[in-house]
Amino acid sequence: MPRTFYPRCTLKASMTRYEKPDYWSVKAKQEGYPARSVYKLQAMDEKFGLFSGHPKPGKVLDLGAAPGSWSLYALKRLGAGGFILGVDRSSLARDYDGGLLSGDRYCFLQGDLTSREIQEAILVQGPFHLVMSDAAPGTTGHPSVDALRSLVLAEAALEYADLALFKGGNLVVKVFQGGESPNLLKRIRERFKTAKSFKPAACRGTSCETYYVGLDKKSTNWADAG
Ligand SMILES: C[S@@+](CC[C@H](N)C(=O)[O-])C[C@H]1O[C@@H](n2cnc3c(N)ncnc32)[C@H](O)[C@@H]1O
Repeated sequence: MPRTFYPRCTLKASMTRYEKPDYWSVKAKQEGYPARSVYKLQAMDEKFGLFSGHPKPGKVLDLGAAPGSWSLYALKRLGAGGFILGVDRSSLARDYDGGLLSGDRYCFLQGDLTSREIQEAILVQGPFHLVMSDAAPGTTGHPSVDALRSLVLAEAALEYADLALFKGGNLVVKVFQGGESPNLLKRIRERFKTAKSFKPAACRGTSCETYYVGLDKKSTNWADAG
C-alpha cells in the first residue's frame, strides 16, 4: 500500500492558536471586512482575474460564506447588476457590511452545503459565473482527518461547479493539502481550460490550506441553457 502524504503544518483543534490578531486581521477590520480571508480572495482575483472572465452582471455562489468577507468583496467587484448567493451553516457578521449583505443583490442560505436540501435550494438560484468555496471544517489537530473533511467540502464545491456553473465560468476552492487533494486538482484540470494551485500571502505560514483555481469551464451542461 502506498503511504499517503500529509504535510507538516498546523491544524490546531478549534484554531485557538490563531486568536491573536495579526497584520491581515487588523487591516481587514480597518478596511471594513470581518475576516482576513478577504486578502486571499483579492490576491487570487488580482492574479487570475476571477471576476473578469464572464459577462457582467455576474452571479456568484459563495460556499462557506460566513462571516462574510468574500461576499462583501465580490459584491463590490460585481457592481450594481451583480448577485451573490452565500451559503454557510454559521451566521454572517452584519456589523461590517454597511447593509450590503441585507440588500436585494445578496441572498444567504444557512445550512450544510453538502445536504440535499441546501443543494436543491442552491440549484434553483443558478446558474452562476463564479463558484468560490472557502469552506473549511472545524479542525481536530489530526492532519489526515482534517484533510479528509476538507476534501468532502471541496468535492461538494466541484459538484456545484459541474451542476451550476456556466460554460466559461470560474471556480475557486479551498483544500487542506495532503491525502487525495492532488486528485481533485486533476479533476479540475479535466473540466477547466486552466487549473492552478495557489497559496495567497495572507494564508498563515503554518497552515495546510491552499486554493485550487479553475478558469474557463470547458463543458456544457444544463446550466448553459440559463
Ligand atoms: C474560513 S471560514 C470562511 C470565511 C469567509 N470566506 C469569509 O471571507 O468571511 C470557513 C467557513 O466554512 C463554513 N463551513 C464549514 N463546513 C460547512 C458546511 N458543511 N456547510 C456550510 N458551511 C460550512 C464554516 O461555518 C465557516 O464559516
